[in-house]
Amino acid sequence: MPRTISAPRGARDILPEESAAWARVTEVARDLSSRYAFEHIETPLFERVDLFARSAGETSDVVEKEMFRVSGAKGSEEERAEWALRPEPTAGIVRAFIEHGLHVRPGPLRFWLIGPMFRYDRPQAGRYRQFTQWDCEVIGDPGPMVDAELIELASRFYADCGVRGVVVHLNSIGDAVCRPRFRQALIDYFAGHEARLTDDSRRRLHVNPLRVLDDKQLEPDIAAKAPKPIDHLCDACRAHFDAVRGLLDGLGCAYEIDHRLVRGLDYYTRTTFEFYVAGREGQQQALGGGGRYDGLVEALGGRPTPGIGFGIGLDRTVLAMAEQSVPLPASPPLVAVVGAGEDLGARLRVAGQLRDIGLRVRPDGSGRKLGKQLESAVKAGAAWAVILGDELSRGEVVLRDLLHGEQRALPLVDVAETIRPAH
Ligand code: HAM
Repeated sequence: MPRTISAPRGARDILPEESAAWARVTEVARDLSSRYAFEHIETPLFERVDLFARSAGETSDVVEKEMFRVSGAKGSEEERAEWALRPEPTAGIVRAFIEHGLHVRPGPLRFWLIGPMFRYDRPQAGRYRQFTQWDCEVIGDPGPMVDAELIELASRFYADCGVRGVVVHLNSIGDAVCRPRFRQALIDYFAGHEARLTDDSRRRLHVNPLRVLDDKQLEPDIAAKAPKPIDHLCDACRAHFDAVRGLLDGLGCAYEIDHRLVRGLDYYTRTTFEFYVAGREGQQQALGGGGRYDGLVEALGGRPTPGIGFGIGLDRTVLAMAEQSVPLPASPPLVAVVGAGEDLGARLRVAGQLRDIGLRVRPDGSGRKLGKQLESAVKAGAAWAVILGDELSRGEVVLRDLLHGEQRALPLVDVAETIRPAH
């Protein structure tokens, strides 16, 4: 026998039993995107490697270690360029904003998308090589109101999905004015503890010291005494952060200040935030995260334009729903259409008529005995069977309640009314 082929490591099939939860999270995300007046955007699943290197940063994990490179075809320079499957959508959306000259539209512009992202990381529960994000971006709004609005939007998303105990972590990492001082304070501090840093952190110490603060293996006593970004904010960044906090307080949206929340992508300025299920903060299992990126449009060649957004991991949201046994709406009752003999055409026709009146219908296409067809219907989860026989010539069928074993003849047009009140 030929060997079977499995799905790639870190990529998953979503089987029907998981579909109800996926339908729920995507419906909630779409509905909120619309009610918060975001517009839908789609960008390619692959982009030039350069785009990610210049946005997320050369020393970010997504670029340094996790890039899913796609080798181009032979041919023109365009085709030979280096491409990568997108690790995150913000860079692509900002590229599209610049490329299509969207700055001329009345702003601020608000975009959303749902789609797959790719990171070549070591797979584990909740960390996949292909995963799905709901992403929202606001381009052209210097805030601080929009910062609070986005944090409230994400919090509402988890609540509407039924996930309980989601905590918001909040921080500000300053801007081009105050970041250099903070960077230097980090370098000075961590240089004094260099021997106890991980290899990655030692390597990044002088190029990207913020990532050292973010290192999950940083020893707790070193982390506890590390310089805090909010102690180094310039007046403008401090006023922005205080305003965001005041607005969140006014909304009754609880948050915790997390001094180590610098985020793993280099484009962030000022506000950063992440969402966790309470008690699971240490496990690198953020349900979502985002922040402000006031320098990104300019870094990618556009005119200076502020931006802010978040990405929510839908896979992790679905996992949290399963862990918390969040109840999901049951599917409408399933109706089987069965019959004796050579009446396949009639079964299809009747199935169509029942679907016309809104029922969920599965006709049996086999020539097996009626009893066998009814057995299969029960196994498939059908609550009702419509049995076709001679009565059909008078517009009647036999409706069998498969859960209670009762049946009676009735006009086909009355089937829906009989089924619906019962469920
Ligand atoms: P991120 O924090 O890299 O941010 O990813 C956002 C969310 O995607 C994470 O909190 C997590 O839920 C999910 N996620 C990330 N990697 C994986 C993985 N390997 N497997 C499963 N889920 C994962 C961004 O991507 C930014 N673009 C967010 C943003 C938008 N910032 C501004 N605008």
